Amino acid sequence: MRTLLVAFALVGCAGLCFAGGLGATGGENALDAAFLQSWLQVDAASAAKLASDGAAAATARRELLRSAAAAGTFGAAALPGAYPSPPPPPEPSPPPPKPSPPPPPKPTPPPPKPIICGPLCQTCTSPTVCTKCVATSNGKSVFLNTQKVCRVCNALNCKTCSADGKCAVCNAGFRRLASGTCERICSDARCLSCPANADVCTSCVAQSGGFSIFLNLSGQCKACLKANCSICNRSGNCLTCKTGFEPDGRGGCRVPCTLPNCAVCPARRGVTPTCQECDPGYMFLSATDKQCVPVCSILNCAHCIAGSAGKKCFACKVGFVLSAAKTRCTARRRTGG
Ligand SMILES: *[C@@H]1O[C@H](CO)[C@@H](O)[C@H](O)[C@H]1NC(C)=O
Ligand SMILES: *[C@@H]1O[C@H](CO)[C@@H](O)[C@H](O)[C@H]1NC(C)=O
Ligand SMILES: *[C@@H]1O[C@H](CO)[C@@H](O)[C@H](O)[C@H]1NC(C)=O
Repeated sequence: MRTLLVAFALVGCAGLCFAGGLGATGGENALDAAFLQSWLQVDAASAAKLASDGAAAATARRELLRSAAAAGTFGAAALPGAYPSPPPPPEPSPPPPKPSPPPPPKPTPPPPKPIICGPLCQTCTSPTVCTKCVATSNGKSVFLNTQKVCRVCNALNCKTCSADGKCAVCNAGFRRLASGTCERICSDARCLSCPANADVCTSCVAQSGGFSIFLNLSGQCKACLKANCSICNRSGNCLTCKTGFEPDGRGGCRVPCTLPNCAVCPARRGVTPTCQECDPGYMFLSATDKQCVPVCSILNCAHCIAGSAGKKCFACKVGFVLSAAKTRCTARRRTGG
């Protein structure tokens, strides 16, 4: 059927068509030529001639196609080479443009060679010139010294050092001295130094509240309350009495006694005193005579001669007789009758 249609078409085209030539050019021509030869029952040379005439072949081709289309359907297989090649499959659409990656960072100039800073140094201009130190090292602060080198702040009780290595800021509980050292702040304002413990003082102010202050044996500052005393010792007894007084030998102060060997005179000055108590080693001459005489070591001697250091007796006890040398008291001999 198809063949017939094609034959009809070709025949319908009559000699004109073929006189004009059905051939195409190029590779198609070989097919066309073979086709024409087969279907037109012409010799190969005529078929080739027809096929070689491009214009005639194109006209014949168009006519052939038009007739075939009008007559019905026939496939390309029936007319190999007579059909335009089917349209090429649509080219796969190009993949959507990939989102462009972020522009690469501008090529920075090659970084300067890193400088290896010295120990404990954070930023530096050379291995030996630090500009900033790390904050701490093993819990201790670090400082930049005058040579631009980082050092650990080892000042005692110090929080931060100054460039000279002395303390700039002391730890809590300490105060900074002009020397750049840190001193513990003592609990008692009268205490000048308490190196080990805020409550244990090692030295006190001299005066406070009108009293002299002494450091007692447990490390406390106390007012020296002994009358007429200028400086107390650590037991609170008077060490130095105020002007016009003297230590009384019992921790206090007394008005100096001008009476010989007398320890205690009346406190009232300017009054001719009588002795109230003899110096150690002395005793009153008698209950009524308040002279102080040496305690006598001579047996049965009532009292010794002053200044004899107890070696010479002044008067023996009742019933005893003083020897000529005044060194012995002997029992009075009983007279008979
Ligand atoms: C030192 O003074 C403190 C405070 O007054 C007192 O508690 C302490 O007993 C005193 N120490 C001595 C040895 O007297
Ligand atoms: C010495 O002490 C006594 C007793 O506290 C006092 O009355 C007297 O004024 C004092 N004397 C002097 C010169 O301070
Ligand atoms: C303080 O002086 C008294 C005598 O006035 C003395 O007995 C005592 O031992 C002294 N105390 C100290 C700690 O020196």
